[in-house]
Amino acid sequence: MPVPHKPFDKVIAIDGPSGSGKSTIAKELARSLNVLYIDTGAMFRALAYEASEKKIVLKEGPALAEFLNSLKIDYGESDSVLIRINGHDLSEKIREHHVSGLASVISQLPSVRKYLLDFQRSLALDKICVMEGRDIGTVVFPDSFCKFFVTASVDIRAERRLKQLRENGDDKITLNQIAEDVRLRDETDMNRSVAPLKKADDAITLDTSALNMNDIIHILSNEVKFRAAHLGFNL
Ligand code: DC
Repeated sequence: MPVPHKPFDKVIAIDGPSGSGKSTIAKELARSLNVLYIDTGAMFRALAYEASEKKIVLKEGPALAEFLNSLKIDYGESDSVLIRINGHDLSEKIREHHVSGLASVISQLPSVRKYLLDFQRSLALDKICVMEGRDIGTVVFPDSFCKFFVTASVDIRAERRLKQLRENGDDKITLNQIAEDVRLRDETDMNRSVAPLKKADDAITLDTSALNMNDIIHILSNEVKFRAAHLGFNL
């Protein structure tokens, strides 16, 4: 793959649909490179959760603007606290199944995307980090020096999600329901008018359906290091 020319951002962008394995990859890659890991999906989830607690209607308007103005987000404070909103630790709550649907709705609102875009850029300012999401390589950091687009089949993604939910104590939802949710969410994420889920032209695609995670991390880590060295910084 061609290495980009300067100017570039020292952000490793990892995009892809939910359940593709991108979170595991992003987390492990950040750990193996010893750099900051930033999960932007957690931010949309946290805003969606908080808005629903405050009974904010998820549409553009003065109530949403006031809600956004009232927010204070703390991200990545420690290994155990991923995200706080206005001082409340939402790290666990954002993983509840109903929050996925709310996050998908709130992520379509331009003012929310703009708010989080600024926040995401400010977090990564002058830092080397792995940032995962849907639009990192296309919108948030289009000049990222290394972009990956992670995919997997709907069935595999639904199975992974089911395992995760079972581990979190949800024993009601069925595999079929999840597969349907996954399909629906893909469609919404890919067809929204602002910052849709899309592979950047210069991103490397990885289908994780049949790949071993350790192999993937090894390949990606080598690719990142190679590019970094070529651009004159070390990882
Ligand atoms: O990755 P996730 O499933 O935690 O993301 C939750 C929702 O947020 C999902 O519907 C897509 C949306 N999202 C987004 O629109 N842009 C991002 N950069 C990250 C997530």
